[in-house]
Amino acid sequence: MLLGTQRVNAQGHLEIGGCDTLALAEEFGTPLYVMDEALIRQNCRRFTQVFTERYPGEVEVSFAGKAFLTMAMVRLVEQEGLALDVASGGELYTALKAGFPAERILYHGNFKSDEELQLGVEAGVGHVVVDNPYELRRLSELAAAQGKTQPILLRVTPGIDPHTHAKISTGQEDSKFGISVASGLALATVKDALSLPGIDFRGIHCHIGSQLLDSHTHEDAAEIMVSFLAEIRAATGFVCAELDIGGGLGVRYLPSHNPPTYEEFADSVVAAVVGALNKYDLPTPRLMLEPGRALVAEAGTTLYTVGPIKQIELAERTKTFVSVDGGLSDNPRPVMYDARYSVLVAGRAAQAKDKVVTVSGKHCETDTLFPEIALGEIHSGDILAVQTTGAYNHGMASNYNRFRRPAVVFVQSGQADVVWERESYDDLLRQERLPQRFWES
Ligand code: LLP
Repeated sequence: MLLGTQRVNAQGHLEIGGCDTLALAEEFGTPLYVMDEALIRQNCRRFTQVFTERYPGEVEVSFAGKAFLTMAMVRLVEQEGLALDVASGGELYTALKAGFPAERILYHGNFKSDEELQLGVEAGVGHVVVDNPYELRRLSELAAAQGKTQPILLRVTPGIDPHTHAKISTGQEDSKFGISVASGLALATVKDALSLPGIDFRGIHCHIGSQLLDSHTHEDAAEIMVSFLAEIRAATGFVCAELDIGGGLGVRYLPSHNPPTYEEFADSVVAAVVGALNKYDLPTPRLMLEPGRALVAEAGTTLYTVGPIKQIELAERTKTFVSVDGGLSDNPRPVMYDARYSVLVAGRAAQAKDKVVTVSGKHCETDTLFPEIALGEIHSGDILAVQTTGAYNHGMASNYNRFRRPAVVFVQSGQADVVWERESYDDLLRQERLPQRFWES
C-alpha cells in the first residue's frame, strides 16, 4: 500500500514528498519521522470541505493536537484555516507560542489544574471544554475573578461502546471522561452552567473513541447528542448553538483496514445529525468536529536502520528476529494497543513480501514492534519504512533507556525541513541538577 505522495522511484526506493527515503535516512539519521506535508494539507482541506458541502449550517473542524503537535504543525493548521484542539497547558503554550489565534482554540482535559485553566482564560481561548462539575465551578470562579466570561462546551458521555481498543474507548457509560447523560447529571450541570457567573454555555461535546473503522457509533452518538439538545431545551428553554461530536475516524495501518472515506463519514454523520434535528424540531447548531489521527496518521512514516538479524531454530520452523535502532520509545503503540503496521524495505520498496520476520526494538526489554510481519528479503544495514506513524508516535515518544527522541522532517516537492531536531546527549542531561554533596566521594 502506498499512501499520499509515496511512490517507488526508478531505483526501487521509497520516495515521499519527492524525497528518496534512503537519502533522508543518510542526511538526518535514523530513527526518523518523515511527514508528508502535502498529504496533511490535502487532508485538512478535504475534511473541512466534505462537511461544509453537506451540512446545512456552519462547520468548524479542529485538528486534535494530541495526535501530532509541533510548532510547524500549529502553523500549518492555522494556514489551512482549521481550529485547534489542545489537551494540556503544554499543548496550549506551544500553540500560543506558534502564534495560533486563541479564539480558535478548544481546550480539553479531564483535570485541568487551576494553573492550566488560568492560562486558558488569560489567553482568551475560544472554548474551554468542561469535563465535570468541579471544573465548571473552578472555571467560573477563575473567570469571574478576572472579570471575564469564558465560552464553554460541556463534555458529556453518550453511553455507547465504540468497539475499538479498550484503551481508546471513551463514549461508554463507565468512561472517566465527561458527564453522564443517562444519569441526569449532565442536565443538572447544564443548569449550573447557565446560571454560574463567568460562564457562557454554548453547547455540548462528546468524543466516543478513536480508530473507529465504521460510522455506526458516530451515528448513534449524533442521535443521542441531538436528543440531549432537545432535553436541554425542554428543561431550560435554552437552545444550544454548538454541537461537537469529537474525533475518532480510523485510518489504514494495514491494507486490510478499510475505514470510511471522508465523504462516507460526512454523509453518515451529517445524515444522523440532520435527521435528529428534524425529529426534535431543533434549529441547526454549528457542527464541530475534532479529527486527529484521520488528518495526520497516514502522512507519517518512520525510518529505521536494521541492525543484527537473528535466526532461531525452533522445532517446527526458523524464527527470524530483525532488530531496528528504535522501539517502544519512538512507537509505544504496539505495546500499548497491540497496534499493527505495514512495513517496507525502503531500498527495495517493490519487492515481494514473501518472508515473515519479527521486528524488535533495541530497548532493554522485549519491545517487539511488529510480530510475524511479511517483509521479504532483508539485510543488516537496510532501511525499514514503517507506514502510518504520523499520529500518536512523536507525541507519545519517551526517553526510555535514555534514548534520544528522533527528528521530525516535513517533506514536500523534493525538499525536507527539520521541524523537530533529534535530541542530543546533552539534551538528555538538560534537567539534571547535581547538588554538591553528590560529587564528594
Ligand atoms: N477529541 C478528543 C476530546 C479526544 O480525546 C481525541 C483523542 C480526539 C478528539 C482525536 O481523536 P482521533 O480523531 O485522533 O481518533 N494514543 C492513542 C489515541 C488516544 C486518543 C485520545 N483522544 C493511540 O495511539 O491510538
